[in-house]
Amino acid sequence: MDKNEELINVANRRYATKKYNPDKKISDKDWQTIMEVARLSPSSMGLSPWKFLLIENDDLKKDLYNEAWGAQRSLDGADKFVIILAKKNLTPTSKHVQHISEDVQNHSFDPNSAFVAKLQDFQKNDFKLNDERTLFDWASKQTYIPLANMMDAAAYLDIDSCPIEGFNRENVEKTLEKYNAVDLKEWGVSVMVSFGYRDQEITPKKRQPMDEIYKVIK
Ligand SMILES: Cc1cc2nc3c(=O)[nH]c(=O)nc-3n(C[C@H](O)[C@H](O)[C@H](O)COP(=O)(O)O)c2cc1C
Repeated sequence: MDKNEELINVANRRYATKKYNPDKKISDKDWQTIMEVARLSPSSMGLSPWKFLLIENDDLKKDLYNEAWGAQRSLDGADKFVIILAKKNLTPTSKHVQHISEDVQNHSFDPNSAFVAKLQDFQKNDFKLNDERTLFDWASKQTYIPLANMMDAAAYLDIDSCPIEGFNRENVEKTLEKYNAVDLKEWGVSVMVSFGYRDQEITPKKRQPMDEIYKVIK
């Protein structure tokens, strides 16, 4: 099989799993690979405004079952259940931007730098990220990149997954806070995703034809 064929196979192989086999576990090696793919994901300005909570607390899982209607079939049998958090208030002079600049990208943080000015201009004028909600949604959008990368990596390793937006954000955040799992001043819930092994056939893809979604502009 050539690489092109292999990629298309992985894309067809990944599907939103509705029934997991609760007895089948993901190996540590596979799980670490999926998490490493998440970590290596790209983000706007390299800010990686995300955190991944692997939920292993059974009481918390029970509470989530009631609040996350879209996650119930995952919670019933998936080996891994992840909540992806997005950073709040990701402004150019925020602690997170400072941390990424200094500790990750290894250049000292200067509030008067060209980088800070660029990020300020981009947020204010280009994308109009001018309030808490728009800033959170911008960070939340970034989290869908590792989300997709993790699911594709899983499919490549023959592991099933399901992305999950079927939940009430406020309720889930309150629940996570109850378990001291999140500092809501800093983080909000973006999206969830489950991984495991299916107990059903892979659903064939239903998609729009290429000519409906793809246009070459000359
Ligand atoms: C962002 C996002 C949120 C989703 N939320 C849920 C969900 O809460 N529960 C669920 O069972 N499926 C959920 N899905 C799965 C979609 O329904 C599914 O991906 C879509 O119908 C296409 O099918 P396929 O993934 O099997 O190809 C979600 C998918 C995405 C991308």
